[in-house]
Amino acid sequence: MKISVALLPDELPMDRVASSQVVVFDVLRATSTVTTAMAAGAKRIHFFADVEDARAAQRQFPDALLCGERGCLKVPGFDLGNSPLEFTRGVVAGRRILMSTTNGTRAIHAARRALRLFAGSLLNAHATAAALSAHPEDIILLCAGTNGRPALEDLIGAGAVIHRLRQMLGGDALHVPDLALAGDYAFCGAAANLESALLEARGAQNLVAAGLAADIRHCSQLNALPTAVLINGAELATA
Ligand code: MLT
Repeated sequence: MKISVALLPDELPMDRVASSQVVVFDVLRATSTVTTAMAAGAKRIHFFADVEDARAAQRQFPDALLCGERGCLKVPGFDLGNSPLEFTRGVVAGRRILMSTTNGTRAIHAARRALRLFAGSLLNAHATAAALSAHPEDIILLCAGTNGRPALEDLIGAGAVIHRLRQMLGGDALHVPDLALAGDYAFCGAAANLESALLEARGAQNLVAAGLAADIRHCSQLNALPTAVLINGAELATA
């Protein structure tokens, strides 16, 4: 089994996507928010690259919560932004969510032809590794990045899953190219204080400037949630 890393959606090896398990990481914050929402009992999340597509889908699902951000802030008229702290059980349990974010939901769309597609985060690194290891297919860890640039926090999140897979499956069963090893080492270097490592990332500085530092603390909680998030292709349909 090969584990590879793509630092940006443009670097996704499209010729291998359809035969691979793909995990998308937007640790600050989209895939951490998705993980939090599913662990809080959300019924289903539909992902939209564009805000207008999400709005249009609300005609089909009038009871759904419209969620997402642009420039870190809630889209005007939406029910929720992209802060995982908003996605409490009381708000989202049993609810359908229509979500559009700047980088995260676009990365999810880029990987939509994956054999199996997951949303990954530090919050569910162990659960994600366990779900991946149940199948023999190669794994691609796709980092969403921030506005077309690689993001430290996504590489650390991918590294947490790589580290766990290497612990679980051992060296002989895995082919781990250099970039995936770099992810493992990035995670190990940051593991003693994930929150302070995340705070050094550019994406975190944008969140701090927007008054959203509490989200960084939440997103840095390693294995706080037991839920692997498998994304169903039907949830990727545009309106
Ligand atoms: C994104 O999808 O670009 C991010 O999750 C941005 C954010 O933190 O709101």
